Amino acid sequence: MLLQDKVAIITGAGSGMGRAMALSFSREGATVAVADINVNAAIETVLLIQEQNTGKAFVHGVDVSYAKSVQELINDVGEREGKIDIVVNCAGLPQAFTPIEELEEDDWDRLMNVNAKSIFLTAKYAVPYMKKQNQGVILNISSIASERARPGLNAYCASKGAVVVLTKSLALELAPFGIRVNAINPGPANTEMLGKFISANEGEREQLKQDVFLSSIPLGKLIEPEDIAEAALYLCSPHSQKITGTILNVDGGRGI
Ligand SMILES: NC(=O)c1ccc[n+]([C@@H]2O[C@H](COP(=O)([O-])OP(=O)(O)OC[C@H]3O[C@@H](n4cnc5c(N)ncnc54)[C@H](O)[C@@H]3O)[C@@H](O)[C@H]2O)c1
Repeated sequence: MLLQDKVAIITGAGSGMGRAMALSFSREGATVAVADINVNAAIETVLLIQEQNTGKAFVHGVDVSYAKSVQELINDVGEREGKIDIVVNCAGLPQAFTPIEELEEDDWDRLMNVNAKSIFLTAKYAVPYMKKQNQGVILNISSIASERARPGLNAYCASKGAVVVLTKSLALELAPFGIRVNAINPGPANTEMLGKFISANEGEREQLKQDVFLSSIPLGKLIEPEDIAEAALYLCSPHSQKITGTILNVDGGRGI
C-alpha cells in the first residue's frame, strides 16, 4: 500500500475532491484526519471510510481561515498520532460571477482567507512537525482558473493564483528539510461547487454548466473527484519523491 502508516490531514474532506482523497488515502493505508468546517459532512466521510474497512480515519472540525482553529487541528493530530506526514489543503470557496465594481471587500477577504491564507496557516503549524521528521508532503488544491482566468471570478482567480506562487515558494524554502510541496489545478469538476460559480437560478444552472464549463474542456468530460484523488495519491506517495514545486493540471486540457 502506497501510504502505509502515514498520517494525513485533508481539509475540505467533507465533500467532493477532499472526500474522494480521504477515501483513497485510507484505502492505501493512511490514517486520515478528515477536517472540514461542516462537521456532519466530515462524519459522513468517516462513515464511508469505515464501510471500506481500510485505514483509520477521524473527524476534526476546522475553519481553515482562522489561525487558532488551524493550530488546534494540527496540534491535536500531531499529539494524537505522534507525527504529520501529509497535509492536503483542499478546502475552498467558490465565487459566483461578480463585476469587480460590485465585489464587496468582505467577500474578497473571505475568498482570500479560505482559499489562500489557509495554505500559509497549515504550513505555519505543520512544518515544525515535518522539519523534526526531516520529511513531509504538502499538497495544495489550486484551480486551472489560476492559469486561465474567467471573467467575473476575479477574487477566486486571484486566490488560486496566490496558491500557485506560494506552492513554488514553499517548495524552495522547504526542500532542504526533505519536505515536498506541490499543487493540483483541477479543471471544472463534477462536485457541489461547480454550479456555485454561476449566478443563475437552479433551473438555468444545469444548462449553463454544460454551456460554460463542459464546452471549455477539450476531452469533453467534467473532472471527477476521483481523478483528483488519483493525482493526489501520486503526489503524496513515494512514487513522486523527486517531485516538488510542480503544478499538475488535471483539467481535461482546459489549460492549453
Ligand atoms: N469544483 C470545481 O469545478 C473546482 C475546479 C477547480 C478547483 N476546485 C477547488 O478544489 C477544491 C475542492 O473543491 P470541491 O469541488 O471538492 O468543493 P466542495 O464544495 O464539494 O468541497 C469543499 C469543502 O470545503 C469545505 N470548506 C469550505 N470552507 C471551509 C473552511 N473555511 N474551513 C474548512 N472547510 C471549509 C466545505 O465544507 C466543503 O466540504 C477547492 O479548493 C476548489 O476551489 C474546484
